[in-house]
Amino acid sequence: MLDRMKGPILKSRDEIAVMDRANRVVLEILEIMREMVKPGVTTAQMNAVAEEELAKRGAKSPFKGYAPMGLPPYPAVVCSSVNDVIVHGIPSRAKLQEGDIVGLDFGSILDGFVGDGAVTVAVGKVPPRTEELIRTTKECLDRAIEQMVPGNHLGDIGAAVQEHAESRGFHVIRNFVGHGIGRRMHEDPQVYNYGKRGRGLELREGMVLAIEPMLCEIGPKLRSRLQRAGRDGMVDDVRTDADRWTARTLDGTMAAHFEHSIAITADGPKVLGKAVA
Ligand code: MF3
Ligand code: CO
Repeated sequence: MLDRMKGPILKSRDEIAVMDRANRVVLEILEIMREMVKPGVTTAQMNAVAEEELAKRGAKSPFKGYAPMGLPPYPAVVCSSVNDVIVHGIPSRAKLQEGDIVGLDFGSILDGFVGDGAVTVAVGKVPPRTEELIRTTKECLDRAIEQMVPGNHLGDIGAAVQEHAESRGFHVIRNFVGHGIGRRMHEDPQVYNYGKRGRGLELREGMVLAIEPMLCEIGPKLRSRLQRAGRDGMVDDVRTDADRWTARTLDGTMAAHFEHSIAITADGPKVLGKAVA
């Protein structure tokens, strides 16, 4: 998914300040979309609003037209991933229904830097296990962020996500990863949502990473693949629609996704775009 690069590109304080503004745009517009979520609304409507709001803020979309690895250009400014869609759902005219969940993944480009973030939202009332999936995925992101201090390793981030997800009986999607972010949406390193503490690249001040845990409920197909692979084995846990973007769980079970772009600073992790209290 990532172009080959030489390693993380460290950002200065000034660059982190610009990225903070790019991500403020992301979080503001995610909030506008979150408030639109209700039965009867379409993800195409949310995408149209998001596109207008980007323009109002003088920002561009890093998603629209994005075409990695010979994929067809992504056609929208938002990825809207309903129910068993893990990520990269394309906005459509289908109406959201009570009981659905929708992942909203959104990016901006402002003054040459990219912001990237995602939330998952319930449409009306959803079953308790689905609520737990959304809550746990958000908690995985929060726990990952706590690990983002100089001297820790990428494996500390992955392990924090994996341990929490599995303690609640959920599966961490292996086929997608987080990433470095800066002037480009996808920079080195890849950030796995599983791993071992103390392993992998050492984290340094000036790194900016988009952390994006994706979790799903475990169905029979996934369970049998996991059993064959063993705890650390690689498992193919995604099936992709004919549109080549929409990525679904193997069993049609629910999936959730949260994402922030975070800078590693001497004072600890700085969640970009977020107002500090
Ligand atoms: N936010 C996604 C990521 O982190 C990017 C969406 S893919 C796109 O990889 F095509 F919509 F851009
Ligand atoms: Co991302």
